[in-house]
Amino acid sequence: MLKPLQFGNVTIDFPVVLAPMAGYTDAAFRSICKEQGAGACYTEVTSAEGIRRDSQKTFQFLKVSELDHPIAGHIFGKSVEAMVEAAQYIEKLGCFDWIDLNCGCPVKKVVRRGAGAALMKEPEEIGEIVRAVKKAVSLPVSVKTRIGFSPAFPDHLTIAKIVEDAGADMIAVHGRLACNFHKGDADWEKLGEIKQRLSIPVIGNGGVNTPADAAEMLRVSGVDGVMIGRGAIGNPWLFNQIKNPAQPLPGFGEKREVIETHLLRLVELTSSTAEGRRRKTKFIPEQAACLHFRPHLAQYLKGLRGRRGLLQELNNLKTVEAILTSVDKVLSQNVDATSPSRFSNSN
Ligand SMILES: Cc1cc2nc3c(=O)[nH]c(=O)nc-3n(C[C@H](O)[C@H](O)[C@H](O)COP(=O)(O)O)c2cc1C
Repeated sequence: MLKPLQFGNVTIDFPVVLAPMAGYTDAAFRSICKEQGAGACYTEVTSAEGIRRDSQKTFQFLKVSELDHPIAGHIFGKSVEAMVEAAQYIEKLGCFDWIDLNCGCPVKKVVRRGAGAALMKEPEEIGEIVRAVKKAVSLPVSVKTRIGFSPAFPDHLTIAKIVEDAGADMIAVHGRLACNFHKGDADWEKLGEIKQRLSIPVIGNGGVNTPADAAEMLRVSGVDGVMIGRGAIGNPWLFNQIKNPAQPLPGFGEKREVIETHLLRLVELTSSTAEGRRRKTKFIPEQAACLHFRPHLAQYLKGLRGRRGLLQELNNLKTVEAILTSVDKVLSQNVDATSPSRFSNSN
């Protein structure tokens, strides 16, 4: 059902993409998802003001690997000037394929500043930002938004039409209201209404955790692409399973290999980020990477016997060796006697 998706000079051959997720979608995780079939990805959300202030913490989010492409530099902010400057900075880096504007983040400290989801309260502000950024850069520009802030504010069609009329090349829409954060079902019918109304490509997002979900979102909404967030954490194989539903679930060896590769890439990323730091950090890079890996590991091992015990000791596992030894212990408790290469629980 999915055709390659094109906007500007970007082509996403397989338009099932990894959503931007702060704290998760760093270069290490993105590369794992790309290898498992994700068609494109976004950076973690990056503050336009942070780029302007030359904040080192901000620049770490803009680290890109060879495996990432096509990739969007995903920025948030309220001021048109800051968003323009950030977009120009990202374009100059030369390693991004397009620029994405965050107009859907409901986190308090973002909304309080009038950025992210707050922009949906007065969507003309989104239009202004899109127009100014489009004028300032030659990379394609997209918007990631939601179906609205709350029922009291402009609806999904109003927001989407303003985004298109302002010149955006693509829109990705999360089918939940910002006031609901991540709770409840995503409204795929509203995504379909947006698809019907707009001429630019529409990527649908929200609640896709299985190949069947992806098929159902496409059937209900007719969107041009699917964006996956939480469903990919601990299950990057989901992308290839959507591409080819006959693909077998990962076996014992494959899961172990991906966990190890992911963790090692995170150590490498953390080390390279630490090199440029002016201030000393509390943990050495390997320790920091192991701590950062905890929520990923919790999801990789979901449903397995022995997971709870591992999670209880996770805060003390600060070396790659210690984590992998514990992972092996959990996996060994779950090998199916009839098929030792597979999990007894397929997660
Ligand atoms: C931990 C976490 C961090 C997120 N960070 C961002 C972000 O930085 N920018 C953004 O636009 N959306 C962010 N989101 C929202 C996701 O991109 C996505 O829209 C949402 O999770 C719904 O998709 P899902 O149901 O497939 O998870 C985040 C979501 C989660 C769970």
